[in-house]
Amino acid sequence: MDTQSVWRDTAAASGYAMLDGNIGADVLIIGGGITGVTLANLLAEQKTANKPKVVLLEADEIGSGTTGHSTGNLYETVSGGMREIVSRWGGDVARQVANERRAAVAFIEERCSHLPDVGFRRCSLVQWADQAHANDMQEEFDALRAAGCAVERTTSVPSPLPPAEGDVLVLPGQAQFQPQDYVAALARRAAEAGASIHEHSRVLELDTRAKRAVTASGSVTAKEIIVATHSPKGVHLVHTEMPVHREYGIAMEWDAGTPPGPGTFWWKAAEQLSIRTTQSGGRHYLVCAGQEHKVGIHNAKAGLIALEALARRHFGDRAITHRWSAQNYRGADALPYIGRGHDGCFMATGFATDGLTWGTVAARLIAAELLGHKAAFADVVRPGRFSPVKGAKNILEENALVAKQLVKDYLTGGQKEKLSSLAPGDSAIVDAEGETFAAYRAPDGELFAVSQVCTHVGCKVHWNSVETSWDCPCHGSRFRPDGTVIEGPALKPLKRKHLPPPGG
Ligand SMILES: Cc1cc2nc3c(=O)[nH]c(=O)nc-3n(C[C@H](O)[C@H](O)[C@H](O)COP(=O)(O)OP(=O)(O)OC[C@H]3O[C@@H](n4cnc5c(N)ncnc54)[C@H](O)[C@@H]3O)c2cc1C
Ligand code: FES
Repeated sequence: MDTQSVWRDTAAASGYAMLDGNIGADVLIIGGGITGVTLANLLAEQKTANKPKVVLLEADEIGSGTTGHSTGNLYETVSGGMREIVSRWGGDVARQVANERRAAVAFIEERCSHLPDVGFRRCSLVQWADQAHANDMQEEFDALRAAGCAVERTTSVPSPLPPAEGDVLVLPGQAQFQPQDYVAALARRAAEAGASIHEHSRVLELDTRAKRAVTASGSVTAKEIIVATHSPKGVHLVHTEMPVHREYGIAMEWDAGTPPGPGTFWWKAAEQLSIRTTQSGGRHYLVCAGQEHKVGIHNAKAGLIALEALARRHFGDRAITHRWSAQNYRGADALPYIGRGHDGCFMATGFATDGLTWGTVAARLIAAELLGHKAAFADVVRPGRFSPVKGAKNILEENALVAKQLVKDYLTGGQKEKLSSLAPGDSAIVDAEGETFAAYRAPDGELFAVSQVCTHVGCKVHWNSVETSWDCPCHGSRFRPDGTVIEGPALKPLKRKHLPPPGG
């Protein structure tokens, strides 16, 4: 299925050269999403005499990861509910979270004032629920107040949004933008200020002792490495603490001036929905995101179909112009992990679906630490904080799920099919030449057979029919049919096997 976000489809291409040769740097940033690009911008725009030499390596294109597949909303609260932070950590930490996130949104607004138009607009965030979840809104109101947010209460939302039962919470002064345009423009500023940005330069090996990253066409050795790849590469404790989910996005044709207008709209029901409008080149769109599910376990196509049906039920039978999906990693104790990891590199992960703002917070915290003034909030989100009491239930549930999946995959071996029965467009786990492979036959007939064993720590990958990829249910690594890594903690590709054509 062709998946493309409305943001990436309507943005200009970036076009940075691939890394060519072996170079040195003060700071190497791996990953060109909002976290990496904001950090590159902050460091490159330093006016001090000891301004660091910055290199950014991006596997694909700037913004092509989750940033360009998000919904582009910026807010001081968190999508999982401020009540979770208040109940786990107390009002003081909740106030710090809201303050840091509010400051990050103001930082983005300030950067936007120096950039070409990237669709930044201040607006309200509106949350409401159906009958079954109406009580959550009362609790959330109290938590937002405890966190120092200027939340107000009302009782209705504009039609055609799903009707409200109980309180509607309105948080004024939040914002939204075109996320792809923003990172592209910010990267351009960073490059103009001296950062070396390289696209199509995937890091294939990371030697954390020698502080050296190797791509197919060169290497970078640096004093500091920041792994801004959404989930850190390699094996880290945080992987066992973070559930990984995919979520779907669609854009449908919309009419200029038709409600709901500017704003971030979160409807909480059995099927949750995040709704906003946007426009590009004179065309108007309604964007909906939802149908979160665990990576590599559920039927991806069913998730997308359910989101489309939900959007059509509430907003009419309009043309759906874009469909996409993206991944989120949730911290076990409701906070992200930002800072230096056990391997000496910096990480920034566990953003849930709030990472446009968390990624900006992360870049600001890491930049401050690299420049010698560590912020107090850095301690609240440090990766090694491991807080069993605060996150134990989530960690146990997550690891039980991973263990169950591992046992099921390894004991049952999965259902196998014959290679010869694989039609164009089909995928299956097949036996061939005495081995088991994950196989996919492309629509043009080309066969791709790869090992089913994920190169991260050995779980077995499952087929994702929406994005034509092999997805790992354990920590979210995803691979193309030819085995190359798309995202997640794995660095190495799935081992490819070249099988002869049937009868050949
Ligand atoms: C459906 C959905 C909607 C969302 N909506 C919102 C929202 O409205 N507001 C909000 O705040 N958050 C939202 N989020 C979350 C937010 O989009 C992410 O948390 C955020 O974009 C993460 O940014 P990042 O820079 O850390 O990672 P990414 O944007 O994923 O960037 C990481 C980059 O690293 C690159 N990379 C990976 N491996 C390598 C390698 N080996 N070598 C070199 N480069 C590599 C990738 O190609 C990628 O470009 C949403 C998430 C989802 C799933
Ligand atoms: S992502 Fe960890 S084993 Fe696959």
